[in-house]
Amino acid sequence: MVEVLELSGSGEGPDAARAAGVLERGGLVLLPELPFALSEAERTFLDPAVLAPKTKNVSYDPGTGAVGGTSAQGKAREGLGRMMARYAAFATALLERLAPGYAQALQVRRTSLRPGAVDTRVLSPRKDDRRLHVDAFPASPVQGRRILRVFTNVNPHRQARVWNIGEDDFETLAERLGPAALKPRTLSPWLMERLRITRGRRTDYDAAMLALHDGIKLDDAYQAQAPRRRMAFPPGMSWVVYTDGALHAALEGQHALEQTFLMPVSAMEDEARSPLRILERRAGRALT
Ligand code: SIN
Ligand code: FE
Repeated sequence: MVEVLELSGSGEGPDAARAAGVLERGGLVLLPELPFALSEAERTFLDPAVLAPKTKNVSYDPGTGAVGGTSAQGKAREGLGRMMARYAAFATALLERLAPGYAQALQVRRTSLRPGAVDTRVLSPRKDDRRLHVDAFPASPVQGRRILRVFTNVNPHRQARVWNIGEDDFETLAERLGPAALKPRTLSPWLMERLRITRGRRTDYDAAMLALHDGIKLDDAYQAQAPRRRMAFPPGMSWVVYTDGALHAALEGQHALEQTFLMPVSAMEDEARSPLRILERRAGRALT
């Protein structure tokens, strides 16, 4: 069973102390009363015309202030960057309330604005996020760190964002990986870094997570039969989930903001529950 913890207000009540445990067990933390308010001018950024051709997300790098994936220029581009910086701060403050123990260890990565409808085009199964999956980044190795994400539905027309959440926990998913996916790799990670196919070295952990991502997405029988639960996130709701551990699929919706954090497993309340340690137990060796 997927655990779902619903917190009132902005998540400072006594129940917040349970949030980290719920997240680490593959659950979701929902904040139905935590909207992200947009100014009149910022609402224009919800128009998918803000996207550069062939891109799905506007991205913002809180480290450098760079805005990407947009055709906006000049003042509009600056305004977009300021809105996304504000969202990065909003998401960071939320996690500091929910999981104070994570605060020192969280690494703030990309902020994304998803102005378009969840993709209903026919995509290659590997790219189709309507299929259940756990997240893994082909070009940006995480090297064992967790992927923790905060989302907020900013749809102006009362449209919910709808996900499926798979009921299988990570331990169960990990059983799908045969010995080949967990074996040591030597030359290619080095080469991929040298050729700039990856930013940083793709570790055996990253390779195993990509194999798991692809294996689940490409398994038609599993996609048809996997036990799942449909969840709707209405406008004004924020939610938090470890997307590398919780099986999820985005089915419907338009207009979301999202903030990605990476976190070393040593900052978890129970790192034995991390995908890294679960896969290492199966492999019988270190994977990073
Ligand atoms: C995903 O991580 O699969 C997509 C989530 C979303 O855009 O709602
Ligand atoms: Fe995903």
